[in-house]
Amino acid sequence: MSLVTTTEMFKKAYNGGYAVGAFNVNNMEIVQGITEAAGELKSPVILQVSKGARAYANHTYLVKLVEAAVIENPEIPIALHLDHGDSFELCKSCIDGGFTSVMIDASSKSFEDNIALTKQVVEYAHAHGVVVEAELGTLAGIEDEVVVEAGHESYTRPEEVEEFVTRTGCDSLAIAIGTSHGAYKFTAAQCTRNADGILVPPPLRFDVLEEVSKRLPGFPIVLHGSSSVPQEFVKMVNQYGGNMPDAVGIPEEQLRKAATLSVCKINIDSDIRLAMTGNIRKYFAEHPDHFDPRQYLKPARQAVKDMVAHKIVNVLGSDGKA
Ligand code: G3H
Ligand code: 13P
Ligand code: ZN
Repeated sequence: MSLVTTTEMFKKAYNGGYAVGAFNVNNMEIVQGITEAAGELKSPVILQVSKGARAYANHTYLVKLVEAAVIENPEIPIALHLDHGDSFELCKSCIDGGFTSVMIDASSKSFEDNIALTKQVVEYAHAHGVVVEAELGTLAGIEDEVVVEAGHESYTRPEEVEEFVTRTGCDSLAIAIGTSHGAYKFTAAQCTRNADGILVPPPLRFDVLEEVSKRLPGFPIVLHGSSSVPQEFVKMVNQYGGNMPDAVGIPEEQLRKAATLSVCKINIDSDIRLAMTGNIRKYFAEHPDHFDPRQYLKPARQAVKDMVAHKIVNVLGSDGKA
């Protein structure tokens, strides 16, 4: 199978009540960890590349790594997606350079400017057989805390989604329902604490998701900022010399519920970073005399694979759906 767009993946995911994982890739070990898990579990998967990943690893290296993963895993559909494209030129460069899907993230612009830029990308992408993810609403982050608490300004406004999708022609829509990028998704003030002293974040706004879905029947919805920040990795980082107090993510049960609804794509990046960093720190603490990258990257790659396998089976529900 060669690289595919997300069209068929999303149709099957929507009708099947599961979601496809979209994992950010920056190097060979990450590509291998993700695709080995997806391949063994016969799960479709989206490999996504951010502007920063492209600047770090180079467009051609990333495309060729993903193409290698396609060759090594011929039985599963794999899409190559641009994450958070911020300009027509960046999207065009990825479309021309072998990506099968791009995101144009103009969510920080006005409604009209978001529509204009998204439409421009959609026209070029569709003419080249590539699909487009757009975004409405602004994801909460630690710096957005006050805005969210003041009046829910950051959440997607369901009354805007039909007009946005109709006028832009986008193929999927990322919405803001309370997820957030990074490993520090919520401040302590936004959370309660459980008996172990771990922060418990505010629940996702399923009412917003349901209202959006009602207005866009059959249309694939995307969730960004959906890492769960597993406490086992946070503990590992902290135990072996790191310092990540109060890192907290989205509870997996809530993502599982979203996956059974109209959410067809769930973005995970921070959990990959945590899995690798925790295991690399542990490895060095236990083997202070080692210096071969193949030695310390091996358990890190295995940790990415195990984490992705867990997400596929227990969060996304995409195992066996390839
Ligand atoms: O949503 C952003 C992704 O986590 C990519 O992060 O820009 O650091 O590559 P990055
Ligand atoms: P996390 O930071 O929660 O992993 O989100 C990743 C993401 O949304 C990439 O676009
Ligand atoms: Zn994102």
